[in-house]
Amino acid sequence: MNIEKNRAALRRPRKLAARPGGRLERCLLMCGIVGYVGARCAQNVLLDGLTKLEYRGYDSAGLALSVGGGIRVIKSKGRLTALRARLEEATAAGLPAAHCGIGHTRWATHGEPSDVNSHPHSTPYVSIVHNGIIENYGALKAVLEAKGYTFVSETDTEVLVKLIDSCYYGEPLRALTQALARVRGSYALAVLFRDWPDTLFAVRRESPLIVGYGEGENFLASDIPAILRYTRRYSVLEEGDMVVCKAGSVQIYDEFGRAVQREKLTADWDIEAAEKGGYPHFMLKEINEQPAAITATVSPRVEDGLPDLRIPELNDQRLASIKRVHLVACGTAMHAGMVGKYVIESLCRVPVEVDLASELRYRDPIVGEDTLLIVVSQSGETADTIAALRECKARGAYVLAIVNVVGSTIARLADCALYTHAGPEIAVATTKGYTTQLSALYLFAVWAAEKLGRIDEMRYNELVAELSALPARIQRAIDLNLHVKYLAGRWHAQRAMFFIGRNIDYAAALEGSLKLKEISYIHSEAYAAGELKHGTIALIDEGRLVVALCCQTALFEKMVGNIQEVKARGAKVLGLAPEGDRRIFAEADDVLFAPGGEPLFAAAPEIVPLQLFAYYVARENGCDIDKPRNLAKSVTVE
Ligand code: G6P
Repeated sequence: MNIEKNRAALRRPRKLAARPGGRLERCLLMCGIVGYVGARCAQNVLLDGLTKLEYRGYDSAGLALSVGGGIRVIKSKGRLTALRARLEEATAAGLPAAHCGIGHTRWATHGEPSDVNSHPHSTPYVSIVHNGIIENYGALKAVLEAKGYTFVSETDTEVLVKLIDSCYYGEPLRALTQALARVRGSYALAVLFRDWPDTLFAVRRESPLIVGYGEGENFLASDIPAILRYTRRYSVLEEGDMVVCKAGSVQIYDEFGRAVQREKLTADWDIEAAEKGGYPHFMLKEINEQPAAITATVSPRVEDGLPDLRIPELNDQRLASIKRVHLVACGTAMHAGMVGKYVIESLCRVPVEVDLASELRYRDPIVGEDTLLIVVSQSGETADTIAALRECKARGAYVLAIVNVVGSTIARLADCALYTHAGPEIAVATTKGYTTQLSALYLFAVWAAEKLGRIDEMRYNELVAELSALPARIQRAIDLNLHVKYLAGRWHAQRAMFFIGRNIDYAAALEGSLKLKEISYIHSEAYAAGELKHGTIALIDEGRLVVALCCQTALFEKMVGNIQEVKARGAKVLGLAPEGDRRIFAEADDVLFAPGGEPLFAAAPEIVPLQLFAYYVARENGCDIDKPRNLAKSVTVE
């Protein structure tokens, strides 16, 4: 390798234009990273990978390419189309195909999306893309400024690249090690050094990163869909791992600098599963994939008609020691947890608490060795959920993860994992992620209730049959509600809506309401039907739509009372009832149906018409359904 810089030149801080009045502001990111080295055109592979990762963030994007003895950076505020246009201009102006490069798609919570804040951040010698937060970036920046570095962006990542630059004397690994030893925070980093034009470097701490293995080419990525078109073989990097990746070799070093091998995994997701397959939106595709996803989640664990979680660690002795269950998650996964509480308490007769992960960690929870912590997460990378998991584990809890992504941080930190097999979920608003989480929770509850001797054989057999019937019920829920598109046309202009229900219907109402607001931007609230009258009913006015979930048949009469209350105040009612229950026609203006069956498992089929309702309302309103504003699929910062 031709290192043409001399040490003195390297030490000299390079002056970059200062941004007048630039604010020192931390830039929180949860982003997509991709890296490529090999014979293909790096621009194409990186753009393709970023397209697959755009769900992780989409307010700006950029590439850094090793070309012509230097690093060429092209970046742009806005969606990938803006970056693509810039790249086309550069190609027209003579940019050759590169064979080694890194790319990034960004979602900012601080620091406005702008060209200058976009990644990669660079010096003439090194360029990085970063997912995570550098907590002590302020102090580091002051030190670097004293050395003569100037800053153009508001990001912590620019501080990091200049810190690496200041440690670089021709040895990339040494520079990374020395720089990162001074950093507090979380990061997944992909790095290009000008003097190493055929090598990618990467480091991982608390933010996900995988290495993909090809034939004569290798990849880095935040997530599997980014590389699936090229290879299925990958390794998940572990905490503190550092990687040197060339076209013909990948070398991984652990946090102590020892060369290590990481397990090579094979992604069984097919490429089709990560693409739209003829549907106008990923969300609609994923709604329709729910029967198959639930089959994949449940059927391998029901053998000869009996649930078997296939988790040897969770044995009879362990189960008997559990005196309480804590369910912890964020967003939709927390809503799945709410349903889980009703089901586990009802079947296992063990007290269950549900916690928002972001709240649990700051409230000194009563968690100990007699606690089973069930962590629910689609991505397995949600920062708040990871922090809550760590907190409870430190207090002695035994941790079961219900998680979709194999090898994710949550899967690895937990004592054992019950994987949902939803496959890749691309739409930001989760659908099959939720129903597979519900299925896993049902499976757990039935299995544990039997092991604990809390249900008799007849009930057990009944529930197992219900578990096996779930995929068909979900399909029926899709088929029964073809008119939902028409109903969305009727109600899409509402400024606000309410969702009410009791018991499990209330938990499902929370999720139905969240789906609507996430993708249609219509304000909506979910209320326990009996609680509405204690204040919130003041918001019900003439023509306001109230969605009334009435799938808990034992509580139907109570729901009728609540429907009457809102109708008396001028509301219109969209009722959701079990198929064949004609009583709803007398109460509601419009009706959705969910197939009947075990009321304890009602949330799974009944959410389907609500997912479809949210989808079609958003479509009527011309919203960007798969990439709603302000949201990110995987929230890897606190
Ligand atoms: C984000 C997503 C939500 C998701 C939540 C938890 O906010 O937009 O759809 O429910 O994170 O994600 P997890 O991957 O832990 O299930």
